[in-house]
Amino acid sequence: MNQSDTVEFPHKTGHIRLHDEAGFEGMRKAGRLAAECLDMLTPHVVPGVVTEDLDRLAREFILDNGALPACLGYRGYRHTLCISVNHVVCHGIPSERTLREGDLANIDVTVLVDGWHGDTSRMYGVGKVPARARRLAEVTYDAFQRGLEVVRPGATTGDIGAAIQAWVESQRCSVVRDFCGHGLGRVFHDAPNILHYGKKGTGEVLRPGMFFTIEPMVNLGKWQVKILSDGWTAVTRDKSLSAQCEHSVGVTETGYEVFTASPAGLFQPPIQAD
Ligand code: MF3
Ligand code: CO
Ligand code: CO
Repeated sequence: MNQSDTVEFPHKTGHIRLHDEAGFEGMRKAGRLAAECLDMLTPHVVPGVVTEDLDRLAREFILDNGALPACLGYRGYRHTLCISVNHVVCHGIPSERTLREGDLANIDVTVLVDGWHGDTSRMYGVGKVPARARRLAEVTYDAFQRGLEVVRPGATTGDIGAAIQAWVESQRCSVVRDFCGHGLGRVFHDAPNILHYGKKGTGEVLRPGMFFTIEPMVNLGKWQVKILSDGWTAVTRDKSLSAQCEHSVGVTETGYEVFTASPAGLFQPPIQAD
């Protein structure tokens, strides 16, 4: 990045960028398209669908809307989506795999619109899923909300993690430690790191104009994960079910703005349980 580019990056506090109204406008457009992409996929996430066909639908949707799939080519990744099924924690690679009745899937998309990144993921139930799968998706969505609700100027990144961890552990689930939320904007993965566990009052102080993701990964079993030999796919070590919820948010003068809210009202898509 170019430090002298003061038009695009008007302020910088330490290593964390503070964005102006033009940044908020850019993120609203990017976040909206990312959410619309997940909305568009909803009726296609059914038993028998091939995950690389979902990836193709998403890629075409993004390109048709004049945007770019940010993951395609990112660090050698060759797909538009990450589709993480059952005990896959994140970075599941679209493939010839077919989704089956009862699968619990996270779909994560990042779009690049006019240079701004919109990054979001949600849970989808494939047909009817076991009650424990639906419960995990709900705990995970609520974990995201608990983290979101502490976002305001003066709070810290550690406050977000502490709120998420307290909720998840009260539900006898665990928070994945190996992946975190991240600053974003014109840069895909930027400062600060947003840990989904930790202590109140630690970390970076939030200020208006900071943009980052909150994206807790929650396991029904233990938090430990491992990466498969493809170099991407993260799975729970104990093979327990895992879920995730991600949104791109901005810190405002009084609290937060979610850039990736679902225009179709599918912020928390319905998951049918047995
Ligand atoms: N969207 C993911 C995130 O939440 C990043 C995926 S990187 C990829 O940060 F290369 F795996 F696509
Ligand atoms: Co992210
Ligand atoms: Co993401």
